[in-house]
Amino acid sequence: MVLPTTALLAETRKRIVPPRSTPPPVPTVHAAVPPLAPGALPGLGHAAALLRDPLGFLGSLARLGGVVRIRLGPRTVCVVTDARLVHTLLVALAHDCPRGAVQDTLKTAFGDGLLMSEGQAHRDRRRIIQPAFGPDRMAGYLAVMHQVTEERAGRWQPGQVLDVAKEMNHLALEIVTRSLFGARLSEDATLAFHRALPDLVKGQIVQSLYPHPAFARLPLPVNRRFDAAVRVLNRVVDQAVNGRAAKARPECHGGTLPALLRAARDQGTGRPLTEADVRSEAITMFGAGTETVSTTLTWLLDELLRHPEVEARLLAELDEHLPAGTTPTPEALSRLTYTRSVTQEVVRLHAPNAFLMRTAQVPVDLGPYRIPAGTELLYSLTALHRDPVRYDEPLSFRPERWQDGGGLGRPSFLPFGAGKHKCIGEAFAWAELTVAAAAILRRWRPVAVPGARAREVVWTTVQAQGLRVRLAPRTEAAGATTAVPTGEGPVDRPLPAGCPFTGSAATTAAPTPRPPAELRAAADRHADWTVHHGLLAPAELPGYRAYALHELIGHAFPRARGTELDLLVDMLGWFTVLDDRFDGPPGRRPSEAHALVDPLISALDGDTRQSTPDDRLLTAWRELWHRQSESASPAWRARAAREWRACLATFPAEAEHRARGTVPALGLGLADTMRLRRHGSCLYPFMNILERVHGADAPAALHAEPALHRLRANTADAATLINDLYSLEREERQSAAAFNTVLTLQRIRGCTRSRAVRAVRARVTRLRQESEELRRDLGRRHPTGRWYLDGTRELVAGVQAWTSTSDRYLVPSDRGH
Ligand code: HEM
Repeated sequence: MVLPTTALLAETRKRIVPPRSTPPPVPTVHAAVPPLAPGALPGLGHAAALLRDPLGFLGSLARLGGVVRIRLGPRTVCVVTDARLVHTLLVALAHDCPRGAVQDTLKTAFGDGLLMSEGQAHRDRRRIIQPAFGPDRMAGYLAVMHQVTEERAGRWQPGQVLDVAKEMNHLALEIVTRSLFGARLSEDATLAFHRALPDLVKGQIVQSLYPHPAFARLPLPVNRRFDAAVRVLNRVVDQAVNGRAAKARPECHGGTLPALLRAARDQGTGRPLTEADVRSEAITMFGAGTETVSTTLTWLLDELLRHPEVEARLLAELDEHLPAGTTPTPEALSRLTYTRSVTQEVVRLHAPNAFLMRTAQVPVDLGPYRIPAGTELLYSLTALHRDPVRYDEPLSFRPERWQDGGGLGRPSFLPFGAGKHKCIGEAFAWAELTVAAAAILRRWRPVAVPGARAREVVWTTVQAQGLRVRLAPRTEAAGATTAVPTGEGPVDRPLPAGCPFTGSAATTAAPTPRPPAELRAAADRHADWTVHHGLLAPAELPGYRAYALHELIGHAFPRARGTELDLLVDMLGWFTVLDDRFDGPPGRRPSEAHALVDPLISALDGDTRQSTPDDRLLTAWRELWHRQSESASPAWRARAAREWRACLATFPAEAEHRARGTVPALGLGLADTMRLRRHGSCLYPFMNILERVHGADAPAALHAEPALHRLRANTADAATLINDLYSLEREERQSAAAFNTVLTLQRIRGCTRSRAVRAVRARVTRLRQESEELRRDLGRRHPTGRWYLDGTRELVAGVQAWTSTSDRYLVPSDRGH
């Protein structure tokens, strides 16, 4: 059943605050002790509830009082649930309640940056840094933000599927680096930064809970990973603050932040700041100014997908006040009133800071409550912004709430904090959200990939994970596109008529749209099929279904329907299960590999006697081969059997290479590796099914063409290389790593990861170009076989679209947090 969007929203977002119509009960006695939340478990206190559903738990406390005590193991923490009291804490009590243990951890690691310092040190540093965020700098920053986004969005391709959170992370990091530091990070450094961040945040949280700081020096995995992340981040930051970057560059109007810091003098001693101080501020800006913005941008795109009417109005306003191609100015931005309401509503509903803390250094009164010295105070901006007392329908995305009298002055709207630690980058962030969103939406129309919507993952920030969109050029999408319903209500968008991978126009008529329900039904039938054949236990199904193999078939075979669709999904599922068997011992032991595969090969000749160590695989395979080949022509059957044999034989061949140690770069050349793997990818058998889907064999004269053999080899190679690019991180942890082309190139050429990735991408581009030429040539000479030639293009495009979105290639740590 397709749920209406509002129902979906309510389902996907947590209802974190129980409805109430009156403000929280205010104790009548002055200096009351904050109430203790019920439900504390012995030993754990409320830790389990907080970890299980952080925002739900914190939001539920609001009905108990403006300040509520909770127990986290042996510690008692006061949660401030009322926006007015949070404001008091941050402004009136700022002096007595500095930041607490979480910041201390960072201070030990990175020094006294703005985010970590307090008191006079903080005031001095803020005074030095403030000019970098002054209004006179903004015009220059706007130009850089616009340019960086244009450059990045200009490299995207029609049909490309974007992992939005990842892409926005890179964008936000590049904007901060180029605007504030006048520097450019290498691709390696950018990747290293984003990989290191989760370990840093995890370490920061865990270490802040240690009963004694000395625990941070114990050789625990979490401490080791934290220390490694600190080393990586320091190396990355060095790139941004080195001598080259510190010089004012044309991009950095008015001098870089490092230059500003180096020119400053300590007010007390008159001495210049040290390089460690400069680095400490750089890490502060990278830490505070990237993930906050990238998460918000991701949510912004997600909300616009859910609310096309908001997107349309926003685009109309951009057209009126910020004509395409012009560099945004502060004046132009000030005219974008509706856009501002949209960004405000995103920041309200998805305020990134889920947990912030203060520590009372002396006894303080917070509203009616007495807070003893030493108490840790916790508040969640995200939860405050979803309070039903302050906001009608708090979980609904309604930009208009900012136009009917509401506004930035609302005391309950605190996305950037308040008081002396209020975000120094606030103006920068508002501008960045608008400029980046405008540049992206002008050029591209994001189309939601079914099943790949943003989901809320609470870390220290509230992250938007899992959103993937397919890109359609804005102009093309507005006109010459074919509407393909995806069954997701208002987020349905037309897909570009051209090939999503090559961007070139399709040469055959676009297939009639397949009702999305058909693909889902095929996935359900396939799940039953795998369980029926004992290939998977029912408990394994959820993880397996997350691979969304049916989506690959959906993308790669847009014309497949009915029995062919079922056959393709079953074939792919079966092959995936087989392939996974070789992650275990058969992948390294040739005898076990042969025992598994040889009976499968014999079954192609009708041999029903042999058995394997895994008879369930064999039984399912016999059925599958029967379904493929029944009523096929003898020529098709012979070709398909030959190509399946070649495909299956690669498993023992690879196992032998692994056992002998003749893996690529260690005895096996790259060309030989590609030849071996060309058949291992199972692309040839799938190309044969193109003919089943079409209902006839491709012309025999076409099959006799050497150019077709070349095209088929290119198709298989391109799919293999694309797969290698996306499965890199996963395979690196497994025996399959030995054959991954990126890793092989790194070993053979002794080059960096990014160089190897670039080389593989370039190879894919060359294969694609050569394939287009072959198709043109063959299509001219064999016009009746054009459908087959186009099918090979769709196949590669499908592999590209799916590999970039499937959970199958997430490294284990990416899953489920
Ligand atoms: C949507 C984007 C952003 C949000 C929601 C946000 C939110 C916040 C909040 C709530 C604080 C106060 C933390 C506290 O009181 O403990 C803060 C502080 C800070 N933010 Fe932001 N921020 C954003 C973007 C940025 C950007 C783009 C930069 C810099 C380029 C930045 C730099 C900082 C710094 C340096 C601090 C520490 C200020 C101090 O303690 O004096 N932020 N931010």
